[in-house]
Amino acid sequence: MKAIVVYESLWGNTAAVARAIAEGIGPDARALSTAEAVPAVVAGADLIVAGAPLFAFRLPTDDIRETIRKKAASFAAAPDLSHPALRTWLDALPAGRGRGAAFETRMWFSPGGATGSILRGLKAAGYAPLARGKRFGVAGMTGPLKRGELERARAWGARLARAARA
Ligand SMILES: Cc1cc2nc3c(=O)[nH]c(=O)nc-3n(C[C@H](O)[C@H](O)[C@H](O)COP(=O)(O)O)c2cc1C
Repeated sequence: MKAIVVYESLWGNTAAVARAIAEGIGPDARALSTAEAVPAVVAGADLIVAGAPLFAFRLPTDDIRETIRKKAASFAAAPDLSHPALRTWLDALPAGRGRGAAFETRMWFSPGGATGSILRGLKAAGYAPLARGKRFGVAGMTGPLKRGELERARAWGARLARAARA
């Protein structure tokens, strides 16, 4: 089974969760940033798991990324804006045939979420939802991840792999 875990991550928390999910899926799964997951690499994927941070109650927009870029110096660590927004990546995802799953990292309870938009984008490209969206928690505005979240991510990856093979 070809599995790709693709992520947008400004401070590394979503990237760490993506790597743990890929470990849980198994040795054939790769965790890649939106810059690395180019169409030639994604082509033929049986499973795409996509994740992003929750910013301002939703999947990051270009507007919020621009605000973060302008205020970069005000954060505890510099944001990495070198890879495209997952929203942009999903818009450009070539049609495929497989299953999709979505996750988000977030700090608080929120009236909205990011996984619904991600699952819709994956579905539109031909990756039918395999599971409900998954949330992983961070302890501060830019991280770190809460204790136990990487273990939860590995376990979720293993469950996704079993469901995809079933
Ligand atoms: C500008 C900004 C807006 C945020 N908005 C929310 C929010 O609406 N809800 C929430 O739970 N967390 C929010 N957070 C926390 C992020 O979800 C958290 O920083 C995220 O897990 C970082 O992931 P990353 O390290 O992969 O970039 C916000 C953080 C920033 C910097």
